Amino acid sequence: IEHRPLYGKHVLVTAGPTHEPIDPVRYLANRSSGKQGYAIAAAAAAAGAKVTLVSGPVHLRTPLGVDRIDVGSAEEMAAAVRGALPADVAIMVAAVADWRPRDYIERKIKKRGSAPPALILSENPDILASVAASAERPELLIGFAAETNDVVDNARKKRKNKGVDWIVANDVSGEVMGGDDNQVHLVRENKVEHWDAMTKQDVAMKLVTQIAERLTENA
Ligand code: C5P
Repeated sequence: IEHRPLYGKHVLVTAGPTHEPIDPVRYLANRSSGKQGYAIAAAAAAAGAKVTLVSGPVHLRTPLGVDRIDVGSAEEMAAAVRGALPADVAIMVAAVADWRPRDYIERKIKKRGSAPPALILSENPDILASVAASAERPELLIGFAAETNDVVDNARKKRKNKGVDWIVANDVSGEVMGGDDNQVHLVRENKVEHWDAMTKQDVAMKLVTQIAERLTENA
């Protein structure tokens, strides 16, 4: 493999959770640590790519040579992603919240009366699907799928429904979220690879190697 196989390519990565504000002190979120997305951004930069990392709130250091844009909510992430295009490759690793509180309350909700307040949700934009449908769709668009059951079947469906090229599917019923290891299945157009359990860094390097091969195939 060449030394810097992604030299001259712009790679966009999303990572981390999103925080969906309820009021100035509260939010809805999920257990994503950002580790897998950050490892992918680092591996792409090490492979010579210009990397834009759109990151939700995480406790991780920016990898060397990566341009990082911090966002909070899914709507902010969607705007940052639109602003970061065009890209040759986009790898959407972020665990975007599916829903947000419909109404943001400007002042801290008070604990008063007997009934707790009801949380009414509305649907967040699907960032991946909108990138897939956009005029600036990257040449290679990769989504992640965190599943607790029927992992590969659901990933196959997701690949088609979202209009993406590859889906990296992982089983998050164990300790993947927040952990250092991952076990994934790479669902491509006409084959599925089952990778052994390995560190998130190794998943990142293996994925970047395959991305580089794919871009040279099509060159
Ligand atoms: O449908 P699901 O959330 O399982 O799809 C996961 C994939 O879609 C991930 O690549 C994730 O980053 C992306 N996604 C997104 N915007 C959403 C929901 C998911 O970009 N609102």
